[in-house]
Amino acid sequence: MRVQLQLLALLAPFTLATPAAEFGYDPAPLKHEHPGQLFNHVNSKSKCLSGVLTDTNSTGKYESVGGINTYLAYPKSKKTDIAILYLTDIFGVQFVNNRLLADSLALAGYFVVEPDLFNGDPIGVDQLGDPSFNMTAWRERHPPAAIDAIVSSTIAAMRGDLGVKKIGAVGYCFGGKYVARFLAEGKGLDAGFTAHPSGVVAEEWQAIVNPLSIAFGELDASSTPAQRAAAEAIFTSTNITFQTNLYSNAEHGFAVRTNLTDPQKAFAQESAYFQAVRWFDAWIK
Ligand SMILES: *[C@@H]1O[C@H](CO)[C@@H](O)[C@H](O)[C@H]1NC(C)=O
Ligand SMILES: *[C@@H]1O[C@H](CO)[C@@H](O)[C@H](O)[C@H]1NC(C)=O
Ligand SMILES: *[C@@H]1O[C@H](CO)[C@@H](O)[C@H](O)[C@H]1NC(C)=O
Ligand SMILES: *[C@@H]1O[C@H](CO)[C@@H](O)[C@H](O)[C@H]1NC(C)=O
Repeated sequence: MRVQLQLLALLAPFTLATPAAEFGYDPAPLKHEHPGQLFNHVNSKSKCLSGVLTDTNSTGKYESVGGINTYLAYPKSKKTDIAILYLTDIFGVQFVNNRLLADSLALAGYFVVEPDLFNGDPIGVDQLGDPSFNMTAWRERHPPAAIDAIVSSTIAAMRGDLGVKKIGAVGYCFGGKYVARFLAEGKGLDAGFTAHPSGVVAEEWQAIVNPLSIAFGELDASSTPAQRAAAEAIFTSTNITFQTNLYSNAEHGFAVRTNLTDPQKAFAQESAYFQAVRWFDAWIK
């Protein structure tokens, strides 16, 4: 009996109704959201890696896209036909790392579109440790239906006024769930990449039809070994084009911010960036 219960606990995120069924996902992993130190810059120590920005401010601009405040980063060519939809973590487009990473993807030749998923109500980088901050209330203000609506209208505007022909999406933590949801048949994404996704349920992995690449962190408690294996088993059974990488000593959030003086963590962050670029070079360029 005990063994069975433990097994059930392991499989729970994929097989049972989640504790917060009203949200459609389990909010528990959020307590693992971005532990550790904040870094403001995407780093590259390696001179041969030219795509990644170092010590600078973001260089894109904000515009209304489909009625949503959106950060846009253009490639050198200014062409918009091949684009990346950037779905942020809970810190939103207001967090400079999320704009620098968008700028870095633009340097790799992509038009990057990063909507404000939270209508000006992101979680501040110093708010997670604040005992007066109510995460449950914040989640209730930004349910999946609201995020879905923003992603849908952004995709429509990209394919409309912005002249986009192919759309890849990146999603970090919170945003990863929506990469999965919009890789389903007819939802509008041609390929996707997610790093340390949170709150993705089995049905969402199952419905994916277009190529998906995932960067997992060994220390990310929101993707346990059992959960990673379950996701891979699903991709194998649905026979989609997929890739999963597991980075050692990498925590939840590592692809957006981490301790860059730690060589393993710096490696994980840079590799996740290049993993995404290679993926889109292969499947949407
Ligand atoms: C970034 O912007 C701030 C404020 O606009 C400015 O003071 C600073 O010099 C800029 N840094 C770089 C590296 O451009
Ligand atoms: C946090 O927000 C939830 C949902 O609005 C509410 O039920 C709960 O009482 C709040 N908790 C605190 C400590 O205020
Ligand atoms: C899986 O997909 C590949 C092409 O992507 C195809 O060649 C193969 O037949 C498929 N396998 C099954 C079992 O459908
Ligand atoms: C960052 O990593 C370095 C090298 O491993 C370590 O000495 C330092 O304590 C770490 N900083 C934090 C805040 O964890």
